[in-house]
Amino acid sequence: MKVLVVGAGGREHALIRKIKESDKVDSVACCPGNGGISYDAQCYDVSATDIDGVVALAKEIKADFVVVAPDDPLVAGMVDALNKEGFKTFGPTSAAAIIEGSKVFSKDLMLKYNIPTAEYKVFDKCDDVITYLKEKNEFPAVIKADGLALGKGVIIPETLDEAIAGVKEIMEDKIFGASGNNVVVEEFLTGPEVSVLAFTDGKCVKPMVSSMDHKRALDGDKGLNTGGMGTVSPNPYYTEDVAKECMEKIFVPTINAMNSEGRTFKGCLYFGLMITPKGPKVIEYNCRFGDPETQVVLPRLKTDIMDIFEAINNETLDELDIEWDDKACTCVIMASGGYPKSYPKGIEITGLENGQREGVIVYHAGTAIQDNKLVTAGGRVLGITALGNTLEEALEKSYAAVNEIKFDNAHYRKDIGQKALKAKIC
Ligand code: AMP
Ligand code: GLY
Repeated sequence: MKVLVVGAGGREHALIRKIKESDKVDSVACCPGNGGISYDAQCYDVSATDIDGVVALAKEIKADFVVVAPDDPLVAGMVDALNKEGFKTFGPTSAAAIIEGSKVFSKDLMLKYNIPTAEYKVFDKCDDVITYLKEKNEFPAVIKADGLALGKGVIIPETLDEAIAGVKEIMEDKIFGASGNNVVVEEFLTGPEVSVLAFTDGKCVKPMVSSMDHKRALDGDKGLNTGGMGTVSPNPYYTEDVAKECMEKIFVPTINAMNSEGRTFKGCLYFGLMITPKGPKVIEYNCRFGDPETQVVLPRLKTDIMDIFEAINNETLDELDIEWDDKACTCVIMASGGYPKSYPKGIEITGLENGQREGVIVYHAGTAIQDNKLVTAGGRVLGITALGNTLEEALEKSYAAVNEIKFDNAHYRKDIGQKALKAKIC
């Protein structure tokens, strides 16, 4: 098989390296990919959001299977367009991807089908939100833009002034465009967060091993929200009891709910969960593999990923036994100085040979090859990933490599996995 992966980041690199392990795969292509990905896949200069361009590329290279990884093309209907042309695909249709594409849709779905989540109200007028926030006067408040916003559409203001400023930016200044036409205001929940990615063919749901993201830019969960500064798997808060409760009250009901709505979901459904004192609740759904969760989940997958993708296509996932490695996995993101705000590009990276380093897996999120040198080309640059018999061992390997990989002003968190280590001790 020739497999085409659509996307450009660390998640796509992790998918590509796993797909390459399959006996069924002869070659992997990627669009647009990045410098580091080009060591593993033939990269084509077609944007991940260019539906016509990707369909044309799939035809040109005669792809046997197309994996669409990012949210925007899924929500915009890239899988629908590829399916129409007869391509086998991995990823939900646009009708199903709305579970991430609209917070209002996902909150209404959870309410209708009794799936545990934070209480909420939907607004389409800026003045009404402000009146409501003033009357309620409970902070922190949680305010979410309805549509996709590059992972930045959630604000958690501590004061009324901050809340009003945030709502105005979303609804009046339209910093996220039409995504801010509606907003959801929801109850502030507390508790540890767990990410669970799950394979589903719309009939059955098979959760993958759990993980924990570290979203803030600085140690101690301080600083701005980012796309994710590091991940560990497993997540110790995701105990067997919690997993059982999630399966019964969240995972299966969500799959059934999407079927009842005529929006059967096939692909990877991401459950962003909070383990509250009242039990696990859904913070968000994503219609795709998480980034950088995928980077710590897929290295633990023992089953051929193409068998899973084929089973989802054929709706025979229930017949497949998916196996996981017991090892722990950790990913430390090395980012450009300044990220998640502005940052320079084109800085030389040293400490890697052909994009890799012995003892770890280096997933490339934002790199390019210029004049035969590997250089930075994005905010998140590299995900330094390691497997270990314990979480401590995996972390040691990740950080030992991070210390040897250099680029000017590289920024990384030094406390990835510390919360998970403490949870284990308690
Ligand atoms: P999201 O982009 O939806 O993942 O939200 C970003 C982050 O905001 C989440 O990872 C949580 O830490 C936080 N968050 C979202 N919703 C809530 C909520 N209802 N209560 C507390 N924290 C929340
Ligand atoms: N790591 C969170 C996400 O992929 O949205």
